[in-house]
Amino acid sequence: MLDAEGLWDKGTGDLTGKPRIPLFETVVGLSNAMDLVNPGLVDHHKRVAYIALSIGAEMGLSYGEQTNLLWAGLLHDSGAISLKERRGVSASTQLNPEKHARLGYLLFKDFKPFSEVATLIRYHRTPWNEGAGAEANGNGVPTGSHILHLADRVAVLLRDQKKVLYQAEGVTKEIATQSRDLFVPEIVQVFESLAAKEYFWLDATSPAIGSILERRSVSVIVELDMTQLIDLAKLFCQVIDFRSRFTSTHSSGVATTAEKLFALVGCSETEAAMMRAAGYLHDLGKLAVPLDILEKPAGLTTEEFKIMKTHPFHTYRILETIDNLHTINEWASLHHERLDGSGYPFHYRSDAITLGARIMSAADHFAAMTENRPYRPGMPASRVLQIMQEEVEARCLDPDIVSALARHSDEVNEVRVAGQTAAYAEYQELSRQFDAIC
Ligand SMILES: [Fe+2]
Ligand SMILES: [Fe+2]
Ligand SMILES: [Fe+2]
Repeated sequence: MLDAEGLWDKGTGDLTGKPRIPLFETVVGLSNAMDLVNPGLVDHHKRVAYIALSIGAEMGLSYGEQTNLLWAGLLHDSGAISLKERRGVSASTQLNPEKHARLGYLLFKDFKPFSEVATLIRYHRTPWNEGAGAEANGNGVPTGSHILHLADRVAVLLRDQKKVLYQAEGVTKEIATQSRDLFVPEIVQVFESLAAKEYFWLDATSPAIGSILERRSVSVIVELDMTQLIDLAKLFCQVIDFRSRFTSTHSSGVATTAEKLFALVGCSETEAAMMRAAGYLHDLGKLAVPLDILEKPAGLTTEEFKIMKTHPFHTYRILETIDNLHTINEWASLHHERLDGSGYPFHYRSDAITLGARIMSAADHFAAMTENRPYRPGMPASRVLQIMQEEVEARCLDPDIVSALARHSDEVNEVRVAGQTAAYAEYQELSRQFDAIC
């Protein structure tokens, strides 16, 4: 029998009390994850947040408005990540920039702390168009969206190969030529006054931009409780999963499977919630893996597999920057470790792999093999359990967890199917709403 109590002592950490998660670190972590998709644009989300926040402060916007600019800057391109594949557009095709902004809005609009942030994101690519851009589709466009638009453009124009102060004048002129057409003239003026000061450019491109932003953060919401963390983790699960239609419900399936397995083994309500959040986030690092590798049905080359193997490393490094997320990070990020030490990326052996991580690993195997993919149907649970038993014999998976799964395989599979069906329905609903506003 599995001794849950004993296994806790192997390092899952203190699970008493409800963890409260710092919002700033969480959003920065998630924005860093999105930056992995486009390594050419260094710190893109943080730079846009810094520039937008600086302009907002200079314009005398309220603290609340400045805070919303900060969050919106950090998250503004969330919609772009999942859009290319969803719409069947090839990577080289230029997307209608307003569409990704609208998808970003749909992703965040129902997350309470970010409902206004979602609106800023929705219109962040609306051109000023000599004043016509004060409205879009009959709705007023917030000033914050126009600030974001300019900040986004400035960040894209900066080249990392060249010293920033050599570029400042050229970028400022380029923005000025688009005053009235793309950007609000008053916002351009405020930007120009900031652009005359060296610190603005040096801050915007500083490797320490994360801590500069944190010191300037004026948020009133500083922490997330477990429910809010789950909601935010689920949003990011959508950003990760919707990126590819091949795996559009994978993380949701892993989250519900892992939560159910944990309950079967015995866990508290808080631990179950933490496991669900960990499941949603376990493949966060896949944002660093190019789509052609992610979507190759089988037979990755040695080189491609090396790239694929980086994903749990990225998940780990991103989540470890967030206070109070240590346990969730371990459960999420060690899902490719094996008990015999031959897993990746840390090659931990059994004594370093906690119960939660073992459950996640089993849930990931189970969901990956049972779920349908466009290029193959899912395998029957009975066949998957045979394969997992072989993995137990090869010292990959935990024997107690796999036998608990085998004893309750119908129940676990039902929960897995329900989780993925619900995620698919949400995906369809998002697509419907997306088509309705495009
Ligand atoms: Fe952007
Ligand atoms: Fe994975
Ligand atoms: Fe996975």
